[in-house]
Amino acid sequence: MSRTHTKTPSRADAVTAQFAGSPEVSEYAAAHSGGGTPARYYRSRFHAVDSVLAGCPGGELLDVGCGPGMLVEHLVRTRPDAFSITACDQSVAMIDAVTAKVGHREDVRVSLGSVEKMPFPDACFDVVLATGVLEYVNVDRALPEITRVLRPGGVAVVTMLNPLSPYRLVEWGLYWPARRVLGRVEAALGVPPQHRHGARRTGIRALPARRLRHKLSGAGLLVEDLVFYDVTYLVPPLDRLRRRRDDPDSTVRRRGVGRILGTAYLIAARTPGRSAP
Ligand SMILES: C[S@@+](CC[C@H](N)C(=O)[O-])C[C@H]1O[C@@H](n2cnc3c(N)ncnc32)[C@H](O)[C@@H]1O
Repeated sequence: MSRTHTKTPSRADAVTAQFAGSPEVSEYAAAHSGGGTPARYYRSRFHAVDSVLAGCPGGELLDVGCGPGMLVEHLVRTRPDAFSITACDQSVAMIDAVTAKVGHREDVRVSLGSVEKMPFPDACFDVVLATGVLEYVNVDRALPEITRVLRPGGVAVVTMLNPLSPYRLVEWGLYWPARRVLGRVEAALGVPPQHRHGARRTGIRALPARRLRHKLSGAGLLVEDLVFYDVTYLVPPLDRLRRRRDDPDSTVRRRGVGRILGTAYLIAARTPGRSAP
């Protein structure tokens, strides 16, 4: 008797699929608004990004893995005239969403491409933002590319989920595995697929801050700042039941043991040489 095996998609295919279509784009963009856990996470990330860009007067800025352009729209609104922005993503749907969000403006260009092999010449940006994207890619290919496109003295602002935070330990070690087991039990009991629990394959690979710092240094960047954000002692699913404090300053930490409670972190690192304007 022949058996059909469903082929598990590669990590790259899983990443591409989850950001490929308009429903995925809309779902991702919608998660930024409201009072839920994801929205609080994104607000905290914006706050962390703003804090490191506060000392940056402006210039050519690349947002790579830009998604539907939430950060581009935020920068256009909060730092008008500061940056000439290039928004780059490997997903056509995401790039279309950026144009739909910010419209056709002289100070925003869009570009289709991968952070692992970017369609830009050497040393053409003063700032490169890579928020929420390094978890999905080959970091050893992406970081040298980010260094390559930065001007001397330019700054890279990169983020990563914090695999050592209690939140991620519970989410990845207990919460999602429990939902998968429950889904299998429901399948065995004949529950229709649309009503089963589960957890989609994300392709996420997160590095602890110490390892990412090391890799940034290896790619020729000088680490200047490390900010843990979305600081919370609540773990899934309790974070969905209880509202957290939401004043932005309380959600980020640069010092102290409380940093470990950040569900993600941001690193700002500079290329050697003269400071960008
Ligand atoms: C979680 S979203 C982050 C979006 C946005 N940067 C933000 O902060 O909201 C990840 C984005 O990275 C993009 N992406 C994944 N792999 C990529 C790659 N190799 N090169 C460029 N973009 C990539 C996805 O298409 C998606 O838009």
